[in-house]
This record gives sequence, structure tokens and C-alpha cells, in this order.
Amino acid sequence: MHTTALKTAAKPAKLAHKIIIGTKDTNWEQQGFNAASAKLIKEELGKKISPVVIVADGAYNFILVDSIENNDANSEKWRKLGAKAQATASQFKLDSVTLVNTTNSTDALVLVAEGFVLANYKFKKYKTLENGNGTVKELVLLDGSISKEALKELETVTDANLIARDLVNEPLSFLTAVQLGKELKKLGKEAGFTVEVFDKKQIESLKMGGLLAVNIGSVDPPTFSVLEYKPKKAVNKAPIVLVGKGVVYDTGGLSLKPTPGSMDQMKCDMAGAAAVAGAFYALAKNELPLHVIGLIPATDNRPGGNAYVPGDVITMHSGLTVEVLNTDAEGRLLLGDALSYAQQYKPELVIDLATLTGAAMRAIGHQGAVFMGSADEATRKKLVDSGNAVYERLVEFPLWEEYDEMIKSDVADIKNVGGALAGATTAGMFLRRFTNYPWMHIDIAGPAFLDRAEAYRPKYGSGYGVRLLYDFLKKRLIS
Ligand code: BES
Ligand code: MN
Ligand code: ZN
Repeated sequence: MHTTALKTAAKPAKLAHKIIIGTKDTNWEQQGFNAASAKLIKEELGKKISPVVIVADGAYNFILVDSIENNDANSEKWRKLGAKAQATASQFKLDSVTLVNTTNSTDALVLVAEGFVLANYKFKKYKTLENGNGTVKELVLLDGSISKEALKELETVTDANLIARDLVNEPLSFLTAVQLGKELKKLGKEAGFTVEVFDKKQIESLKMGGLLAVNIGSVDPPTFSVLEYKPKKAVNKAPIVLVGKGVVYDTGGLSLKPTPGSMDQMKCDMAGAAAVAGAFYALAKNELPLHVIGLIPATDNRPGGNAYVPGDVITMHSGLTVEVLNTDAEGRLLLGDALSYAQQYKPELVIDLATLTGAAMRAIGHQGAVFMGSADEATRKKLVDSGNAVYERLVEFPLWEEYDEMIKSDVADIKNVGGALAGATTAGMFLRRFTNYPWMHIDIAGPAFLDRAEAYRPKYGSGYGVRLLYDFLKKRLIS
């Protein structure tokens, strides 16, 4: 990965283009600008919000100014300023930029760098005509206060986010369920976690009826990947399990989706799997002392051949029977199998991430994810806090017992649709049936895939969930 090479230096190179972090109190003359330039900066900052761009000594200076406060909203402002500086630097086709911090806040430096690196991304794999444009090659941090560990963490966690974006942006023509298994293995080798990929035969012998039903209409076989990171010094006795929806393409099956604004986005339906993969990458690269297992059920959802049909009854891995009334409610079927498979680990906590319902997206749009679950209140609050800290925000939906009525079936134990109302919740109620441990379900249908770029989040795959999970796991170490 590494779209941006991150370096540190004690002194700026001659003629270095600079991003300079300051506050409204910064003395610009002390920062080496002559009186005229300093005056200009002050004037420009009075007129508009930063960045102010000025040329001095033959180099560009991108001046970023905001207050230094210790709160989540202020942190996000610095990330967004970093993204703006990246946009300007790439517009000017600069190869290298040096980040200078005039404040005493190392946090501000790291946040600006994070925003810059996250913005400095293009999915170029299939571009044959314009190569190399749009990204800055290196960012040099000019501040002795950033530790080696913090720099490594910045580099690996942003890398992990970009890895998740790449996976989401890959079309089905490349990223089949089998290929996803191969990509996971590659990542495991690179970062230091194990990956076992079950093939169709093994999935059949495990009786994963949900995953198999969704796969019937496809020519390509399903896979079920088990990731494991188990350091000797792990602080948790029972593992934490992360489950990611790996529908490599969702046509809706026989309950076919319309194309515009719907099926045309459905290469994103493995964004949950991508988030888990990215989180594992970051976790292992930073050697967090936690035992974590990842489960990724994967297939495309197609209407071909003997495709499963509305009215079918299937038997899940857990033994529970499901009346399928809409083949487009496929995610809950393969997740149900993965969640019941997770029971064997007697986990401390299970978190699943899934682009599960249009209802979740309609409820809160792209600005955050909907979550729900049976984990205790303190754990749910920690997830929300991590969401605010990395600005992958979350809002909790209820799982009231009464909703369970909505998924009861006349011919089977449950059905895979809950009716017109509370679509995100009835999907959650369905998943809950396969859990017997503390659990949280994150419906990322809204934030996983964007129809336009926003600050440091690009159009299409956003990598949502990676930074959230990493922050949440890291905070598990102090509680
Ligand atoms: N993958 C979709 C959900 C989705 C929608 C993800 C928009 C990303 C953006 C999921 O499999 C689906 O089709 N859900 C249906 C469920 C319904 C048939 C009960 C939905 O939300 O319409
Ligand atoms: Mn669907
Ligand atoms: Zn789907």
C-alpha cells in the first residue's frame, strides 16, 4: 500500500513546499516569513478560513489555522484541513510536502497528517490513460515530538483503511469470493495473522445452509474465511470475534435489484469483510496484545440456474429454519451462519459489520452507521466513543423484544424479511437469533460507499470501520 511515503526530518529541505500548522496567535515572522508575507497571512486569515496559500522563497506554503482543543469535533477539523492541504498540493502536482507544526500539540500534527494521507488516495488499478496524477508522493513530518510508535501507527492504520477501500472498489470481475479468500491470505502473510479459507465442500459439511442458499444461483463457489491473530501476550482469555459480510456482489438474486442507484453500487456489499480485513491488518502490524478471530462468509448473490426462490425454506448452520421471502435479504442468511459458527469460541464479544439494509442508509445517510446489540451498556458506549474519536460515528437503534414478532414465519422458525417498517432493526433481530454471547451489529450500508468525495473520504469505497475497530480494540487494552 503506502500511497504516501511518510518520513520525519529535523530540518526542512531547501525549497521544500510546506504545510504549516498554526493558531490565530502564531507569530508568522518568527516562523521565518518577512514582514510583508506575515501581514498578508494575517489579512487572508481574517478574510477566510484556512488554508491560506502563499509563495515564499520559491516554494508553496499552505497555512492551516484553527484552535487547539481537546475534543472530537476539533480533531476532525484538523483532519479536514489536512485533506484540504492535500487537495491543493495535488492540484499543484507537488511530489513532496513538508508538514511544519508551530503549535505544541503533537495531536494536531498527527491529525493533519492523517487527513492528508487519507485524502491522498486514488484507485488507479484500471486506469490506463492517466497514470500517477492526483497523489502526492511523500509527506515529511518536521516535528521531533512524534514518536516512532505513533508514526508507525499512523502509517499502518491509514494503510489499513486504504486496503479496505481498494477491496471495496475492486469489481466482481476481479474480486470473486475465491479471490477475496486469496487477498485475505496475502494480507495475513504481510501483517502476521493466519487465514484459513474453507471451500464449498467444507462449507457443505459445516451445513452452512444460509451461505449455500445464497450461492446456489452463482457459477462461482462460496468461501468462508477464518482469520486469527493470537499473540502470546494477549490480555483477553476469550477471543473477540469480528464478522464481516462478504457479498462480493449483490444483484438481489431473483428478487432482482433495479440498476440505477441500486444494483450499480453493489460491488460494495463486501465492505464489512473489507473493514474486518483492514482491522486485522492494523491490529497485527501494531501487535496489539489481543486474541481476535475474524469470520468472513463470502459469495455473490445471483439469479442464475437453480437460484433460491422466495418461498424456499432453508436450514441454517444453527439448525434454525428460515422462510426466504425475498432473495435480496441475503446478507442476514450468511451472517446468521457466521454468527452461529462463532459460538464455538465462547467469545468475550462479537462485532459484525455489514452493508445490510437500505433502511439504515435511509435513516442516517452517509454520515455514520447504525448499530444495535446485546453487549452491555458500557461496551456499547465504548463503541460510540471510538466512533466519535475517529469520526466514524454511530447511532444506536433498539432491539426491543416486540420486534421479534415481525420475523416469525408461518411455515418455518423465522422469515428473512420483517415488513415495511423498522427494516434495520428487523434485520438485527434476525441476526440476534444466532447469537448466545455479547454482541454488536454495525449496519454500514450508509457510510461504506459514497457517491461523491467528502473531505478525506473519496468517492466509492470509504474504508469505514477500520479506524473504528482499531480504536475500539486498542481501548480494550486499558479496561
Ligand atoms: N446489500 C443490501 C443493502 C444495501 C443497500 C447496502 C444499499 C448498501 C446500500 C442488502 O442485501 C439488501 O438488499 N437489503 C434489502 C433487504 C430487504 C429486501 C428486506 C434492503 O434493504 O432493501
Ligand atoms: Mn440484498
Ligand atoms: Zn446485500
